[in-house]
Amino acid sequence: MSESESSPAGRTVASTHSEMTEIILPNDTNILGNLLGGRLMHFIDLTGAMAAYRHSHTHVVTAAMDHIDFIRPVHLGDLLTLKSSVNRAFSSSMEVGVKVWAENTRTGELSHVASAYLVFVAIDEQGRLAKVPAVEPQTPDELRRYADALRRREHREAEHARRKEAKRAAAAGVVEGSAGRL
Ligand SMILES: CC(C)(COP(=O)(O)OP(=O)(O)OC[C@H]1O[C@@H](n2cnc3c(N)ncnc32)[C@H](O)[C@@H]1OP(=O)(O)O)[C@@H](O)C(=O)NCCC(=O)NCCS
Repeated sequence: MSESESSPAGRTVASTHSEMTEIILPNDTNILGNLLGGRLMHFIDLTGAMAAYRHSHTHVVTAAMDHIDFIRPVHLGDLLTLKSSVNRAFSSSMEVGVKVWAENTRTGELSHVASAYLVFVAIDEQGRLAKVPAVEPQTPDELRRYADALRRREHREAEHARRKEAKRAAAAGVVEGSAGRL
C-alpha cells in the first residue's frame, strides 16, 4: 500500500448491512440433529465477507474470527438468519460483527443463537493490501460498536505480541536447554 494512496471517502454502517437465510438440512448437522459448529462458522464467514465487500468494494480475505459465542443449538429444519455490518475500518482492515438467529418453523419462535466478530483485510487486483474507507457511525448502537471495535483491535494486537514473545522465549529456552545438554 503506497503512502501516496489517499483513503476513499467514508461510508455509513447502513450501507454495509448484509443478511443471509439458510434452511438447516441433514448434511449441516451432527448425529444429534444439531447444526455443526464448523458449518455455522462457514455461514458466519460468508455473511461477514458480504458486509466487508459492501464497505471496501475490493477483494477481501478473512484475517481473524474471534470472540464467537455459541449460545444455543440450532436444530435440523430450523431457518437460520445471519446479519452483518462493518463496525469500524482501519487502514486495510475492517471489523465486522455478525449476529445469528434460528427460527423454529413450527412455532415461529426466534432465538439468538450466536454472535461473532471477524476481521477482513482488503486486497487489490495485484494481491496487495488496499486502503478502505472510514466508517461513519450514526446511531448510538453504531457509535458503541465503533468504540468497542478499537478496544478489541488493541486487545488482539496485545495478544498477538504476547504470543510472539512467548514463542521467542520458548525458542530461546530450547536453544539454552540444548546448549546445557551438550
Ligand atoms: C491477512 C493478511 C492479508 C495480512 O497480511 P500481512 O502481510 O500480515 O499484513 P500486515 O501485518 O501489514 O497487516 C495488514 C492489516 O491486516 C491486519 N491483520 C493482519 N493479521 C491480522 C490478524 N491475525 N487479526 C486481525 N487483523 C490482522 C493488520 O492489523 C493490518 O490492519 P490495518 O491495515 O487496518 O492496520 C495475510 O496474513 C493473509 O493473507 N492471510 C491469509 C488470509 C486467508 O487466506 N484467509 C482465509 C483463510 S480462512
